[in-house]
Amino acid sequence: MSSRSFGPPIIVTDRLEKVYPGGTKAVAGVSVEVRAGEIFGFLGPNGAGKSTTVGILTTLLRPSGGRATVDGLDVVDHAAEVRRRIGLVFQESTSDDQLTGRENLELTAALYDVPPADAGPRIDRLLEAMSLSAVQHRLVKTYSGGMRRRLELAAGVLHTPKVLFLDEPTLGLDPQGRAGIGEVVRRMRDEFGVTVFLTTHYLDEADQLCDRIAIIDHGEIKALGTPSELKEKVGGDVLTIVPQRPDVDLVPIVSALPGVVGVQRVESGYRVKTLRGEALTPRVVQACHDAGAPVASVALKRPSLDEVFLEFTGRAYREDEGPGATEMALRMNQFRGRRR
Ligand SMILES: Nc1ncnc2c1ncn2[C@@H]1O[C@H](COP(=O)(O)OP(=O)(O)O)[C@@H](O)[C@H]1O
Ligand SMILES: [Mg+2]
Repeated sequence: MSSRSFGPPIIVTDRLEKVYPGGTKAVAGVSVEVRAGEIFGFLGPNGAGKSTTVGILTTLLRPSGGRATVDGLDVVDHAAEVRRRIGLVFQESTSDDQLTGRENLELTAALYDVPPADAGPRIDRLLEAMSLSAVQHRLVKTYSGGMRRRLELAAGVLHTPKVLFLDEPTLGLDPQGRAGIGEVVRRMRDEFGVTVFLTTHYLDEADQLCDRIAIIDHGEIKALGTPSELKEKVGGDVLTIVPQRPDVDLVPIVSALPGVVGVQRVESGYRVKTLRGEALTPRVVQACHDAGAPVASVALKRPSLDEVFLEFTGRAYREDEGPGATEMALRMNQFRGRRR
């Protein structure tokens, strides 16, 4: 994913700030550049400032400081033009339960003034891309969570926006539904050429889906890069060794091996930090054997974004409950309403 080349910057924020009435500084000087064609992720825990940033970029909230442009247009000075170029999907369902999936999209097309001649074929194509063709004539109230979310995604790009904003697109979905969303978001980018800016508090999701990730905490960007860059910054693989005999101290033996960065005694054995776990594994096994403490098991773990988060924020990551749903629904209505 990270090897593809991207276009010019399409979202630019410069020391963006948002202080809510009451004094909460939700965004505290965020500067990022998202390139056309990227899937860019804002990853952070609940309350980090993700939705506030999305709110500013989608013109629903006014920044208190700094500036932001989308497709070269200032989000404050050219709000109406910005809104025409973007799509927005929240985790709250905004579909009408009493209509079919297709009828919902037809309604959205009319709302966005998509010419009727273009709407039909585009709806066909989107239903196909979202794997909803077979259920398009069923009432939305019979849809699964994943199907609803895919319908929302289709609605979000119906008016051919350049940038699609997804605020916690997989929140509340089961693992199967979550996996499906990742796939369709990628298809969206690949087939419809849209740049995707998404927020998530799921580390694994950001890892698998995003070309680049910004880790946000307390309104500040703590780290930014491709998933592999971020993991490399944390440095190294972790080998977990469980010896057959716990009485032999393997710390000096393993520490002495070339390529070992650190050895830590843990409950069942040892954690060995190394930059090249694969090369080290057989040497560790041999050294332990030679020391009279053969290895019972060895596990090699690549650094994960959990460790990245810990490294850059100094605290462990907790995937908690997510944003307030009412506020989201409110903002979505605001967004739809302003469009008319
Ligand atoms: N309308 C608001 N009024 C006051 N404070 C708010 C409002 N919306 C969000 N906040 C606060 O701003 C901070 C960032 O919130 P938010 O952007 O929703 O974070 P995230 O989407 O990462 O969970 C939190 O401390 C939150 O309580
Ligand atoms: Mg949020």
